[in-house]
This record gives sequence, C-alpha cells and structure tokens, in this order.
Amino acid sequence: MIIFRKRKAAMDKPLVKIFPSTSAMSLAAAELFSEQVNEAGRKQHSVHIALSGGSTPTTLFQLLAQSPYQETIPWQKIHFYWADERCVPPEDAESNYGQAWQSLLARVPVLTQNIHRVKGELEPRAAAQDYINQLRQNATGALSWPVLDCVLLGMGADGHTASLFPGQVNSAETTSPAIAVTADYAGRPANRVTLTPLVFNSARHIIFLVSGENKAKAVSEVLFGPSDPLHLPAQRIRPVNGDVTWILDQPAAAMVQVK
Ligand code: 6PG
Repeated sequence: MIIFRKRKAAMDKPLVKIFPSTSAMSLAAAELFSEQVNEAGRKQHSVHIALSGGSTPTTLFQLLAQSPYQETIPWQKIHFYWADERCVPPEDAESNYGQAWQSLLARVPVLTQNIHRVKGELEPRAAAQDYINQLRQNATGALSWPVLDCVLLGMGADGHTASLFPGQVNSAETTSPAIAVTADYAGRPANRVTLTPLVFNSARHIIFLVSGENKAKAVSEVLFGPSDPLHLPAQRIRPVNGDVTWILDQPAAAMVQVK
C-alpha cells in the first residue's frame, strides 16, 4: 500500500491510497467506511451515508455484509441515501438501490424506514422532487438535506462521478440538493437522478473507490491536472469541512507519480 497527500493542485489535500488488487482496495474501503461510520455512531443518534452504484463497489458491499462488519457496524443507526440512481425500477439489474439491496442491505440489520432510495420507477423530474423531499425530512440545521457522515463515490473513465457528467453544469446544481439528468455513458440507463455538489461538499467524509486501467488518465487529470471541473466533474467534489480519500487499485493509479 502506498499513501501520500496530494500537493497543491485542483484537489487540495486528498489522501490517496493505492492497493495491489481490487480485493485489497475493497478491504481497505471496508475498514475506512467502518471507521467513519462507527466514529459518527459514537457521537450521534443517527448516521447518514450515501452509496454509489456501478461495478466497483460490489466487492465492498459483499465484504460489509460479512463478519466482522456485519456485527461491528451500527446498521440500525444508519440512514442510507444514494449519490445517484438510474431511472429504472428497483428490481431492474441496472438499479443502484437494487444492487446495494442484493449485495448488502438485505444481509445486515438495517431499518427499512431508514432506506431513502431514489424512486427510479418514477418519471425523472418526479423522482428528483421525491428525493429532495426525502432529503429534507432528515435535514441538518438550516440545510435542506442531511450532512452526510460518509459518501462512497466512484468515477467513470470520463471523470464523471455520481451522475455529474463532463460538459454538463446544470444551473440547479448550485441551488438544489438533487437533480434529474440525462447522460450517455457505457450504454447504461440515460435518465438519472443525482445528488449535487451542494450535498457532497457539506459531507464529513468522501471515499472515492476507483479501479481499472481505463480510469488511470482521468485519475491523474482529476488529482494532478489543472482545475477543470466542467470537464472533470470529480473535481467538483471538495468538501468544505470534510476530507476526501481516494482508494485506487494499481491499474487505476498507473499514471500517479508517487513522490
Ligand atoms: C452510476 C454510478 C457512477 C459510477 C461510475 C463508475 O450510477 O453509474 O454511480 O457514477 O460510480 O460510473 O462506475 P464503475 O464502478 O462501474 O466503473
């Protein structure tokens, strides 16, 4: 494992951890997730987290559903949200909620009333509005959404994260906690609902979990490249009072120069 802090660039001071394999990086992510959730659980009545979809978190979800995490994580305190969702029904193979339910939530003692999924079966704008209403129900202080204790994010080969895609900056991104977007990526469902940087940048901990050689160029551009958040949406994730940890496998870190 290689650990280093990024020198001054587009993303200030993210912690970058590189692992030899997807299983090693998933284990490290499980440890960090557990640490951050337990830290919040010791201080708070409820813990608020957001999960991501895509293929990369699958191994992590499976690990979290097993010992020791199955017993040691305060599952009944956790409120679950999604960084984004594809506008498909929950039983659809492309549903981020469906993926998380199958590989994790159905296997640990969560309270179903604490699962705040995007209703992907609705029309996109209606799904976004419904999600905004759910976020407001657990809002923190003057915000209209909860401060998230831990956010799990992935990144596409094009530098997108959640469903914030290159070349798209929806004006509502700076005023609304969740928006409906349409994007063409890897043949996946185009209509999506995504949390916006407003929510991500009020979070306490962000974990980027990124694997695969096809992501190496975007990883190096996002972390080392000049600031270009329009074309590299992962650069829009800069929590004001929170930290960012990048957990990479070796292929995704292929263009990372370790000082
Ligand atoms: C989604 C995700 C998306 C994902 C990236 C990476 O709904 O598709 O939330 O942002 O994290 O596309 O996906 P992979 O992990 O499959 O490469």
